[in-house]
Amino acid sequence: MNLNQLDDVPSTFVTDPGATSAGGAALSRFRLDGRVALVTGASAGLGERFAIALRRAGAELAITARRTERVSRLAEALGDGTISVAGDIREPEVRSALMARIRDRYGRLDVLVNNAGGCDAGPLEHQSLAEIVDVIDLDLVAPIDLCRLAAPLLFAAPGASVINVASIFGQVGSRAPMAAYNASKGALVNFTRHLAAQWGHRGVRVNALAPGYFPTDLTGHLTDPSQRAAIEHRTLLGRIPDTTELDGPLVFLASDAASYVTGQVLTVDGGWTAT
Ligand SMILES: NC(=O)c1ccc[n+]([C@@H]2O[C@H](COP(=O)([O-])OP(=O)(O)OC[C@H]3O[C@@H](n4cnc5c(N)ncnc54)[C@H](OP(=O)(O)O)[C@@H]3O)[C@@H](O)[C@H]2O)c1
Repeated sequence: MNLNQLDDVPSTFVTDPGATSAGGAALSRFRLDGRVALVTGASAGLGERFAIALRRAGAELAITARRTERVSRLAEALGDGTISVAGDIREPEVRSALMARIRDRYGRLDVLVNNAGGCDAGPLEHQSLAEIVDVIDLDLVAPIDLCRLAAPLLFAAPGASVINVASIFGQVGSRAPMAAYNASKGALVNFTRHLAAQWGHRGVRVNALAPGYFPTDLTGHLTDPSQRAAIEHRTLLGRIPDTTELDGPLVFLASDAASYVTGQVLTVDGGWTAT
């Protein structure tokens, strides 16, 4: 974890919320001061970055993942009494304990970012059933259950927002063998639409963020030159992104800047799925 990342979030998100100019007022809608956000899978990769971006936008944070030391160190860096809970999010007791900690510490939850995720390695015909179920538990069951558990707090929060981190492989099939991942992310996308329909009248927005290829542990940091070249060739912007390029889309969905956006998939892939 590079704590200097705390300084990397674009200045858009640190605009004075009391700004009086038209531009300042518009940008202030991206602020999350006084809001509480939960980010799962925050010990590395995109989740770590999401926690930093939300904090820089003013939110107070609860973060979770299995690696205790990493989430504790990030919580310390985020400051202001950030809650960190270490545990396996596939475990129902971990999810319940997490929600209880948030209730006790903050008494509210405004933004739920279901980010923790992982991939299987097929081909399907060689996989065990246990491997497939593990991935579905992580990528689909845990996000659904966290929404269920968070519902009372989200209903009570004005302008609450759920962001389910899906994938381009929730929208198109992958050629790489990862059946459970594709199935889970596709289901997460339609769960997002379903919950948006159910919770619209409760004032809770539910959207999916669908990244393309970002350099993290999950993607092997895209160090394989031939894989990199193939992705760059297919991507309209012709390059591999930096994880900071998800800051804007995430904070947008989390904030009042997206107050009329629900049931949508925001794909951030440099145009990979556009052609
Ligand atoms: N990177 C990409 O290009 C990309 C593209 C599309 C979608 N995504 C999605 O973005 C999300 C984050 O991916 P990433 O690339 O940042 O992956 P990553 O670097 O491997 O990070 C995954 C995070 O999830 C946590 N996690 C994994 N299994 C867990 C478990 N059983 N219980 C609790 N936490 C668990 C990990 O923490 P611990 O190991 O400490 O538990 C880690 O913090 C995933 O949902 C992924 O599908 C990523």
